[in-house]
Amino acid sequence: MRFAIYGLGPIGSLISKVAIARGYEPVAAIDIDPSKKGRDLGEIIGISEKLGVEVTGDYRVLYEVKPDLVFHATGTWLSDVYPQIVHSIDSGADVVSTCETLSFPYYRYPELASLLDEYAKTRGVTVLGTGINPGFLLDSLPAFMSTSMALLEKVEAVRSLDASLRRLPFQKKIGVNMEPGEFEEALREGRLTGHVGFAESVLLISTITGLDVDRVEEGQEAVIASEQVTSNGVTVEKGKVVGVRGYGVGFAEDKEVIRVEMRAGIGFANYEEIRLHGEPEITWRSTGTHGDLGTAAVIVNMAPRVLDHQPGLITMADLVKGGYHIV
Ligand SMILES: NC(=O)c1ccc[n+]([C@@H]2O[C@H](COP(=O)([O-])OP(=O)(O)OC[C@H]3O[C@@H](n4cnc5c(N)ncnc54)[C@H](OP(=O)(O)O)[C@@H]3O)[C@@H](O)[C@H]2O)c1
Repeated sequence: MRFAIYGLGPIGSLISKVAIARGYEPVAAIDIDPSKKGRDLGEIIGISEKLGVEVTGDYRVLYEVKPDLVFHATGTWLSDVYPQIVHSIDSGADVVSTCETLSFPYYRYPELASLLDEYAKTRGVTVLGTGINPGFLLDSLPAFMSTSMALLEKVEAVRSLDASLRRLPFQKKIGVNMEPGEFEEALREGRLTGHVGFAESVLLISTITGLDVDRVEEGQEAVIASEQVTSNGVTVEKGKVVGVRGYGVGFAEDKEVIRVEMRAGIGFANYEEIRLHGEPEITWRSTGTHGDLGTAAVIVNMAPRVLDHQPGLITMADLVKGGYHIV
């Protein structure tokens, strides 16, 4: 498989590494950061050998090299990255993207989603948005886990993680070490995102399991350090933002049927816990999943499924199938 990488931040770099280790061939690398342009991909992603692929800021390289697939990792909002996805489709490539709002694009961007679906079908390619969260831990995983239940009434999933183990852009987007007021203002004004994807996860669970929801609510707030905290060399002073907690809830006739929660901060415990209510009841708890490497793995592992899939805009709901109430 010949692939292009679109976006070479920490996540795009990790995706490239995992893909190369898998035996896939890099043929193009695109990033607008001037400090990366003109350099060899191997150097950017931190492997000693030269790969012979020069990083360029010009997406038209895609039309020259015609990759089989584009791994896309530049941004969170579909409205911002839409042209990049269109350029990738234009080159005839399938696309797997980390864009959070592309994981269930019919929620925030129904018009862009139907345009992308139409265009992908016209060009005979497949487009998927996924990642560790949204994409796996708080949606596909609990939904698939419900396969062994005869009756599913409610899904609850919590992810807690120590943000000191995550890349710097992640720590920044959850406001680590900011003044509380400053963080809340940045969230309100959209300069910082916190976690994006609560509603997308709720709707993925609903689509995969068939547990209908007629309303979705989501929210998040800063967690303030009640004392100085240090974890893996990252210190947060008392009174500053140590992380965020947030939730997404799906209601059916005002009854809560799906709840996903995430707590991410410096020194927080690492685990995921899934509680499935119905018959039989299931409680499952992990010791945590590395978010950055996990994202790269989900993206690369989905590539063969996307290459094989019929054309169009798809979600993880199209890939996670099987079981009694799983459609
Ligand atoms: N679904 C999930 O589970 C999941 C998990 C992890 C990350 N993500 C998302 O994946 C994305 C990548 O993460 P990251 O931490 O690597 O982000 P990042 O540090 O912001 O890296 C993005 C890179 O893409 C470049 N870029 C931005 N716009 C571009 C464009 N139009 N053309 C080419 N390159 C462009 C950026 O350059 P500049 O720095 O110059 O702007 C930067 O080098 C983020 O949106 C993140 O939220 C999703």
